[in-house]
Amino acid sequence: MNEYILEMRNITKEFPGVKALDNVNIKVKKGEIHALVGENGAGKSTLMNVLSGVYPYGNYSGDIYYNGEICKFNGIKSSEKKGIGIIHQELALIMYLSIAENIFLGNERSTRGIIDWDKTRSKTVELLKRVGLNENPGTLIKDIGVGKQQLVEIAKSLSKNIDLLILDEPTSALNEEDSQNLLNLIVELKSHGVTSIIISHKLNEIEQISDSITILRDGKTIESLDMVKDKVDEDRIIKSMVGRELTDLFPKRNAKIGETILEVKNWNIDHPMYERKILNDININVKSGEVVGIAGLMGAGRTEFAMSIFGKSYGKNIEGEMFLHGKKVDFKNISQAIKHGLAYVTEDRKNLGLILINDIKRNVTLSNLDRVRQGIIIDENKEIVEVEEQVKSLTIKCSSILQKTKNLSGGNQQKVVLSKWMFTNPEVLILDEPTRGIDVGAKYEIYTIINQLAEAGKAVIVISSELSEVIGMSDRIYVMSEGNITGELDKSEATQEEIMKLIVSEKVGVSS
Ligand SMILES: Nc1ncnc2c1ncn2[C@@H]1O[C@H](COP(=O)(O)OP(=O)(O)OP(=O)(O)O)[C@@H](O)[C@H]1O
Ligand SMILES: [Mg+2]
Repeated sequence: MNEYILEMRNITKEFPGVKALDNVNIKVKKGEIHALVGENGAGKSTLMNVLSGVYPYGNYSGDIYYNGEICKFNGIKSSEKKGIGIIHQELALIMYLSIAENIFLGNERSTRGIIDWDKTRSKTVELLKRVGLNENPGTLIKDIGVGKQQLVEIAKSLSKNIDLLILDEPTSALNEEDSQNLLNLIVELKSHGVTSIIISHKLNEIEQISDSITILRDGKTIESLDMVKDKVDEDRIIKSMVGRELTDLFPKRNAKIGETILEVKNWNIDHPMYERKILNDININVKSGEVVGIAGLMGAGRTEFAMSIFGKSYGKNIEGEMFLHGKKVDFKNISQAIKHGLAYVTEDRKNLGLILINDIKRNVTLSNLDRVRQGIIIDENKEIVEVEEQVKSLTIKCSSILQKTKNLSGGNQQKVVLSKWMFTNPEVLILDEPTRGIDVGAKYEIYTIINQLAEAGKAVIVISSELSEVIGMSDRIYVMSEGNITGELDKSEATQEEIMKLIVSEKVGVSS
């Protein structure tokens, strides 16, 4: 019997102006966890879209063998029929439907043409149990967190009796605990014979659970390795991904910390809809040349804080004071905040950060059209020159600046969001999970840009759930937990343990 469940041979896939896959080969053994890694835009998602029939036969060249049989899928349904399930980088659940409805959407349990709700319910309960989710099938998707939503996606796949599960960056939006649960589940499924292909930029997770790994670079297979036999560790993966060694993950900064630029005092906000307090007497400040980190778990109130100081774009009953260079300010809306030199790079790039049907050029310049305007007319030449420069300095991988942002790889979309805000030339830059879904090489580039901004005297706030990133990048760290600042640490005293302690600490600590 063939030990490989899947072989993809010489797969080539072109988009107008881009060869996304160039003779890619990958072989996956039955029952293993196979990692697929590579830089942003390397072609990982495209390869999995070819495999699952999103790009049907005829749309690419090369062959797919599944269980030794050549396959020519003409759509997602036909790959599902063979037992292949894919969970995309961006979740595809419908927020206002229940868990059960989402799982069986398009695949309804029916008796003589009528949806059988009893059957749907009992089958859902069974599936939720398999993925270790203790929720009522009737609960709406919008009422459970992203971690649980990810588990629902897996349950949905399992409902179709799949034996190869593809997960495209399943943990990128999850906190450590949810990520760990998900990884455990993949291992658990493996013990029941389910093969998985996992795409991730979190190399420690890859190292933890995979049996083999395939590395792509610029649309080509660089190598496939056996994690144990080839003694693969993170350094080895990085070297193969970026084609060189990255000795230091965080570039050095030579910034001089100066006077306080932004100060927020006794900041309180309520939930926009419910009678619930979201932030409790938050006090923070950032100085010129300083990078300040805000650590905390998802739901700690960090994003809500950032949005509320950014022109009151979140929250109700906002109380407290804000000072810029010691002068009291009160931004009523986002455009006032931008005019005063604030920029907020959102964590939710798909809904808030980008207009996906627009090209890169317009997304970048939209927040500061004044910079490219001549009177009331946009100076297109100037716009092109300036955007080309941004694309170059952030190494955004695209066919041209006229490419629609929806066709960029996930990580490159994130870079466009970043350049959009750089374009406003902000004095205070708030970055919310700036490297989510970003490969190690591009992370380094983003950190370098943060350093350059600090060296130019700007104040930078970095919100991040990755503790190593907060510690590696910040001069000073605030820890938030359940709407409170539970501590403040200087770079010299910040360790993962110290921060974790403050994250879980019950009561409001003090910060000056
Ligand atoms: N629909 C599309 N139209 C045009 N170009 C595309 C399209 N989809 C992907 N590309 C391009 O193909 C290349 C590979 O993209 P892909 O999304 O597969 O990368 P990836 O490895 O998944 O990256 P990431 O880690 O950022 O998700 C990129 O250069 C991307 O811009
Ligand atoms: Mg991708």
